Amino acid sequence: MKILGISSWFHDSSACLLVDGDIVAYAEEERFSRRKHTPEYPKSAIDWILDENGLCLDDLDEVVYFMNPWGYLATGVRAVLANFPKSLALAGPKAGTVWPLMRLRSMAGLKRQLCRDHNARGKFKLVYLNHYRTHQASAFFASEFDDVAILTMDFAVDGTTEVIAEGRGNKIDDRLMHTVPNGFALLYATITHVLGFKWYDEFKVMGMAAYGEPRFLDGIEKLYQLDPDSGELQLDFSYFDFQNYGMQKLFTERMKELFGEPRVPGSEITQKEYDLAVSLQEATNRYGLAMARLAKKLTNSKNLCMAGGVAQNCVMNQVICESGLFENVFLQPLAGDVGCSLGGALYRYHQDHGQPRKYSMRHLYLGPSYDEDVEPVIDRTGLVARDSEDWHGDVAQAIADGLVVGFYDGRMEAGPRALGSRSILADARSPEMKEILNSRVKHREHFRPFAPSVLADKVDLVFEPLPTCRSLDYMIVTMNVRPEWNDQLPAITHNDGTARVQTVQKAYASNYYTIIEKFFALTGVPLVINTSFN
Ligand SMILES: [Fe+2]
Repeated sequence: MKILGISSWFHDSSACLLVDGDIVAYAEEERFSRRKHTPEYPKSAIDWILDENGLCLDDLDEVVYFMNPWGYLATGVRAVLANFPKSLALAGPKAGTVWPLMRLRSMAGLKRQLCRDHNARGKFKLVYLNHYRTHQASAFFASEFDDVAILTMDFAVDGTTEVIAEGRGNKIDDRLMHTVPNGFALLYATITHVLGFKWYDEFKVMGMAAYGEPRFLDGIEKLYQLDPDSGELQLDFSYFDFQNYGMQKLFTERMKELFGEPRVPGSEITQKEYDLAVSLQEATNRYGLAMARLAKKLTNSKNLCMAGGVAQNCVMNQVICESGLFENVFLQPLAGDVGCSLGGALYRYHQDHGQPRKYSMRHLYLGPSYDEDVEPVIDRTGLVARDSEDWHGDVAQAIADGLVVGFYDGRMEAGPRALGSRSILADARSPEMKEILNSRVKHREHFRPFAPSVLADKVDLVFEPLPTCRSLDYMIVTMNVRPEWNDQLPAITHNDGTARVQTVQKAYASNYYTIIEKFFALTGVPLVINTSFN
């Protein structure tokens, strides 16, 4: 059975192919269009997947879309009616990344577009899924576990926000559901805007948190109530306006009573913003932990699987892993909507078709490779190429000598993190390296930390163990740097003594592993800085 999962017309459009239960290819449209977080239809990603696997669209059994248009329409109509007439703005062209009415038209015409853009007759079946299902499936069916609690935390515009479910074998059963507009993800996004940042800047807020004092925590906790026993969630909507205006206006004047004037985007970041960021982080940790406790209570499983936008918060993930609530925690590395094409395909195969499990996520090297095209690029750009008897050793030596190395190897990684296929590598021992990379290469804020890639079998040498976490290979969780290493690794040790770790497995990234192994032999340090090209 061949199933193509796709996401489109929201953000981070992607496509993913499942063949007889295995994920064989995945790509995000932004990698072809060069437009970050693009909402456009993933034509290039689909074309690459079909071409790579020698297929045409009519060879597929199903195409699965990651959203339910009817749920989207019903949720939208309910939201407009709830606060009519001011909420009419929700149907306007600026309410989302794509005008909602245009989105609905695109979703309704998806089969026509598929056939037209990929020369198909339409023999395949088109299936629309509830959005949260695709997150749930990406967490559970990509894990190695048969019996799990599934926690998804998101803001799905077709109706749900946070859902706790039980996964057994190849079936998912819901246990608790929060629905739009009550959800922590939009609270987080709203405070991100109060801090003067925009959509997709949540990572900046997480990075800022290490520099503040949580003096606004009481204020953040006034914004919502979560009953720890029943799990009922209620946001205080006297502070919020996204339920009326969508992306155009997220909060009311009352929010200023709690946190003062919002920061003007682009203006200087003051201590107040750092304090608000850490207050939000602390509230996020508490919220995530409370939801994990509910998940434990409702399923009594020893395993937890997580996905959804909020599950990208690496610090919260560390708190949940350390809580001892679960023996095993699988954090889907494609936790945001980039993972929904993958989750949609897995959901159909197992939940709806009843097929047994065979896939579990071992790596993310699922995208295009361009090996044969490298020489023309070298000629075109005027770079100097040379052969080497020991190129791994040469790269390791260059890093140890303080050079910044661009590294390109094999199939592209899925998801937002560079994991050694398209990476910039540097020496984490250098006190100046963070500043050099932030200001000269990445052009980003000083407070954003760099992540380390560490040899998997040496991770506990440098970091305090996180034995419950089953997702250390993906930079989706922070770990504490051991105190004795803190001063030796200034470029990857964040202000709070943590690092967002990727452990490198020889079995899946052998060249990358060998470079770090040689760097370890040269320096005694089993890790390098790894940051993405973008
Ligand atoms: Fe989502």
